[in-house]
Amino acid sequence: MEWKNELTRMLGITYPIIQAPMLGITTPAMVAAVSNSGGLGSLPVGGLPPEKITALIREVKALTQQPFAVNLFVYEPAAHYDRKTFDDMQEFLQFLYGAHQLAATPVSYDEVPFYSWRVQLPVILAAGIRHISFTFGMPDEEGFRLLKEHQALLMGTATCIEEASLLVAAGTDVVVVQGIEAGGHRGSFLPGELPRIGTMALVPQVVDRVRVPVIAAGGIMDGRGVAAARMLGASGVQVGSLFLRAEESLATPAHKAVLAGITDTDTLLTRAFSGRWARGVRNTLLKEIEASGLPISDYPYQDALTQPIRKVARELDKTEFINVWAGQAAGKARAWSTGDIFAELVRETTLALSK
Ligand SMILES: Cc1cc2nc3c(=O)[nH]c(=O)nc-3n(C[C@H](O)[C@H](O)[C@H](O)COP(=O)(O)O)c2cc1C
Repeated sequence: MEWKNELTRMLGITYPIIQAPMLGITTPAMVAAVSNSGGLGSLPVGGLPPEKITALIREVKALTQQPFAVNLFVYEPAAHYDRKTFDDMQEFLQFLYGAHQLAATPVSYDEVPFYSWRVQLPVILAAGIRHISFTFGMPDEEGFRLLKEHQALLMGTATCIEEASLLVAAGTDVVVVQGIEAGGHRGSFLPGELPRIGTMALVPQVVDRVRVPVIAAGGIMDGRGVAAARMLGASGVQVGSLFLRAEESLATPAHKAVLAGITDTDTLLTRAFSGRWARGVRNTLLKEIEASGLPISDYPYQDALTQPIRKVARELDKTEFINVWAGQAAGKARAWSTGDIFAELVRETTLALSK
């Protein structure tokens, strides 16, 4: 079958299959394995300090000569957040940890770590990266100008037609359409009610509206999904949950065991972990925060509040207190090497489309 299309030409890849950037899961080895297999690996760096970004990019480059994308969180956080909301949640969390015989250091409101995409971007461009994907929003005019000056190829995330149209009007080269099935954070960035549109419904509507290649993301776990996305008019797919249990994933064995045991009804959308809507597996930390009825601080404040316990719980294999981001179909994730998962996806797609 013919894999080449406008998207593969733009990205300089063989297969229009993108490994989704997954902060906390994706390693340089995973990114390189996908790029070396002919897809596009994506290195997530949302919120990371510039020196860490430089080191990660260097690691990927040591493992592949092929193109890969670097992924940013493009948003403007409030410089200050309601102190009472923050303090009340912190008090509740400390009590909760104690009740479960756990302990985590309280977070100082004045030291919530935050590295803006504005600080990150020059570092990424200086490292020679030209494939840049982003989520949570879109760069302002100055950001677009800087990116275009460097001939960067921009892949922006949209969760509804309006977001897709805004991205394209501003100069985004490729739109990643994220359906509500998707694992991890929602890329939504317009004010008002969160768009909750499924991949199957959203992809053709965006394809009909914009003149740039569209990548489908959300719920694609095998060749049938890739073939379906193609039928809907997508030029490519972005696949995240499929790689959660890969050998190169940062997920611990206990984390992977949770993922191995989930089914279609085990994920839900929550703001409990980070303050932004995200899809993850229902567990104690999530349920207790939601049941508390307390207001939840916006990202990155709530994220900072839950970070210490997530780190402690990860070390202790207490998966009830970590964030297990996963899509609605993540139960089908394969515990193979990234290269084998990718090769099987290509094989299955070829088969599905030759029927
Ligand atoms: C664990 C996890 C972490 C994620 N982190 C990011 C991220 O850092 N940046 C981003 O643009 N998308 C992120 N996503 C969303 C993916 O880009 C993509 O939309 C999603 O994985 C597609 O749905 P699927 O999980 O059903 O394949 C993440 C998804 C998961 C599962």
